[in-house]
Amino acid sequence: MYCLTVSSLNEIPWNELRARAVHASTTSYSPYSNVRVGAAGYTTDGRIVEGANVENASYGLTLCAECSLVSDLIRQGGGRLAGVAVVAGDHQPIAPCGRCRQLLFEHGGNGLLIDAGEGLDAKHLHELLPDAFGPEDLGTRKDR
Ligand code: THU
Repeated sequence: MYCLTVSSLNEIPWNELRARAVHASTTSYSPYSNVRVGAAGYTTDGRIVEGANVENASYGLTLCAECSLVSDLIRQGGGRLAGVAVVAGDHQPIAPCGRCRQLLFEHGGNGLLIDAGEGLDAKHLHELLPDAFGPEDLGTRKDR
């Protein structure tokens, strides 16, 4: 079991988040994949943070849009994410990759809502990353 401590679906301004994610996708640096990705997140204290993917000639060092969003969150002074929308250049939702699910978990936890697109119910991060490893595990599992 986990505890939901975040806003309900109705409290997340999904339309604005989608629009901000679409705008963020226009700032993407993605000359290798040609897949522009933008992300926008709503914090529990009502701020919006954004990110776009930043690719690299070494491919594996590519930073996803969610990674950039988390950097924006921390640069704004931190806080907790309540809802996140991620879109590709076609303006449609794109599934956060596995690494990004972990990154988002750190800053939003199980109850973080991930947009599934207009007319569809957002998913809790718990559904996308069940039984996640997180900061609390570090505290409880130390053996010295
Ligand atoms: N990408 C993201 O920005 N976020 C994801 O969660 C999935 C993938 C980016 C990385 C790369 O620049 C492009 O999409 C194609 O994989």
